[in-house]
Amino acid sequence: MEINKVGVVGCGLMGSGIVEVCARAGYEVVVREINDELLKRGLGHVQASLAKAVARGKASPQQADEALARIQGTLDLADFCDCDLVVEAAVENMAVKKEVFAELDGILPPHAILASNTSSLCVTEMASVTERGDKVLGIHFFNPVPVFPLIEFVRTILTSDDTMEVAHQFGASLGKKMVTAKDTPGFIVNRLLIPYLLDAIRIYETDLASREDIDTAIKLGLSHPMGPLTLLDFVGLDTVLFIADAMFEEYKDPRYAAPPLLRRMVLAGRLGRKSGRGFYSYE
Ligand code: 3HC
Repeated sequence: MEINKVGVVGCGLMGSGIVEVCARAGYEVVVREINDELLKRGLGHVQASLAKAVARGKASPQQADEALARIQGTLDLADFCDCDLVVEAAVENMAVKKEVFAELDGILPPHAILASNTSSLCVTEMASVTERGDKVLGIHFFNPVPVFPLIEFVRTILTSDDTMEVAHQFGASLGKKMVTAKDTPGFIVNRLLIPYLLDAIRIYETDLASREDIDTAIKLGLSHPMGPLTLLDFVGLDTVLFIADAMFEEYKDPRYAAPPLLRRMVLAGRLGRKSGRGFYSYE
């Protein structure tokens, strides 16, 4: 099966990155947002990131222009009717994702693959509201999508070999390296990352060290590009809380239990970079 047109649901942090890498790889891309304002903002992110890629010598101005010309924004999922593959990158909310999956199942051509970029939710549950369980999988990208070379595939017990093969061809065409995990909460990366991030909050909460020293220790002691508290701000504290709650809900393991400080920071609107303040201030 040949993929010509890719649909992306959601043009937020992850969706806009997915749109960009698909358009740069030569695919026609249609992206849906829920209102004009979010669509405009998301397409603005794509434009800014392409400009950065040009400034850093990762793309020529012509390649960036051609990529932009391949992208169509819409507010209507009906515009996905000729997509060969769709990546859903809407909010991490199962009810929303199931609604999108059920609607797309009725719109997409029979051969189309339906994927979710979920970082923690059950892909099998999304597949259950469609008539194409064999064509459903998780395609989990990492932030920033244009920079990070990994895709994590999530294969459910329904996903067919053919679907996995097409997904691998798609991932390779984006220039990504690929790993495959079973449909279990957190898959590979977040299964390891989330307890680490939660532990960083716990040691900060118990005054073991300052936020700067915790971050410096990991940056310089383990050669990570960012310390854990900076990474929490980068990913978004609401997102991390959401993933932790979803993992705790399934495993009931205290390693995934959100520390009180995380929940309170989210309630207080301190979500990290996106809200201007998290463990650090970005105002
Ligand atoms: N297109 C192509 N390349 C780009 C680009 C773009 N739009 N924007 C930047 N780049 C390239 C730059 O050219 C540079 O490449 P070079 O080293 O070859 O010159 C490289 O990307 C780094 O760019 P910058 O210099 O702008 O950025 P920094 O060096 O400050 O690094 C960072 C920024 C990449 C965010 C780095 O701090 C980092 O890797 N942080 C860790 C982020 C992380 O861990 N993300 C994963 C989060 S987990 C996740 O996403 C899963 C979810 O489920 C929670």
